[in-house]
Amino acid sequence: MIPTIFVTRRLPEGAMQVLADKFNVECNPHDRVLTREELLAGVKGKDGILPLLTDRIDDEVLDAAGPQLKIVANYAVGFNNIDLSACTRRKIPATNTPGVLTDTTADLAMTLLLAVARKVVPADAYARAGKYEGWAPLLFLGTDVHHKTLGLMGLGRIGFAMAKRAAGFDMNILYHDSVRADSELENKVGAKFVSKSDLLSQSDFVSLHVPLTPETHHLVSGPELGLMKSSAYIINTSRGEVLDEKALVKALQQGQIAGAGLDVFEFEPAIEKELISMDNVVILPHIASASTETRTKMGLLAAENLISVLVEGRRPPNCLN
Ligand code: DGY
Repeated sequence: MIPTIFVTRRLPEGAMQVLADKFNVECNPHDRVLTREELLAGVKGKDGILPLLTDRIDDEVLDAAGPQLKIVANYAVGFNNIDLSACTRRKIPATNTPGVLTDTTADLAMTLLLAVARKVVPADAYARAGKYEGWAPLLFLGTDVHHKTLGLMGLGRIGFAMAKRAAGFDMNILYHDSVRADSELENKVGAKFVSKSDLLSQSDFVSLHVPLTPETHHLVSGPELGLMKSSAYIINTSRGEVLDEKALVKALQQGQIAGAGLDVFEFEPAIEKELISMDNVVILPHIASASTETRTKMGLLAAENLISVLVEGRRPPNCLN
């Protein structure tokens, strides 16, 4: 019998094709996040679920799916949307998509850093508005990126990829993590392990690269922002909840820090309204992994996880529990 899966949002075509070759695929027909009721109805009777970071997978969803459910294959490297212990209690493997989005995400983190430092977004808006009247010595003066200090909160896959990019800009690289990386890795990019407070007080740019866990919730809040230089910028491509958004607004309003580059938001898709009017903040709609190549690879990896369990009856390659 061909296994049946529920895909909570349409993926790039290459991935949908692989899924359709192996499974009876039921997919969210709408171009929007499913309501809770739609999600609960959609998973009913399925052998596998392929959810996104916008779908909370917990006891209620697993119960709604039924006892035949054999795998939850998340379409993301982050998996804070999945209650892993609820999966484990039912002996259901949960998987993610590590590795394939590392470089694409680091590219966007660097894009945000450069954009906010060099005022790319307001300068573009100014030129499009027909305001450009000729070269001027004081027009859109930003701050240099090269030879500045980058502080990485987290030197995992994406943090390290960001460090490689920063090394290409001759940046001085500091990092802090729960566990110190091995010296070979540090030496590859010249990254120096420092305390969290040294990282915050010495960096010109602080970039967040940690997963969302109870320990990293509000890892950066008022006191941490207070340690940063008034000329420093914060970049977040990890999860919105890692950075206390209300505290960020306050720090920006009070000039405690110079600006921010944000791809993720604490209560996304909602964004603190004060941020919207600040032209020292670059705001993106959670697109760090959004290239056609990477989003296809994420789908193929999720498919591989589903196939390993539902077709081959073996442990999935990216099992989280
Ligand atoms: C992830 O994979 O966790 C990103 O946030 C979306 O690609």
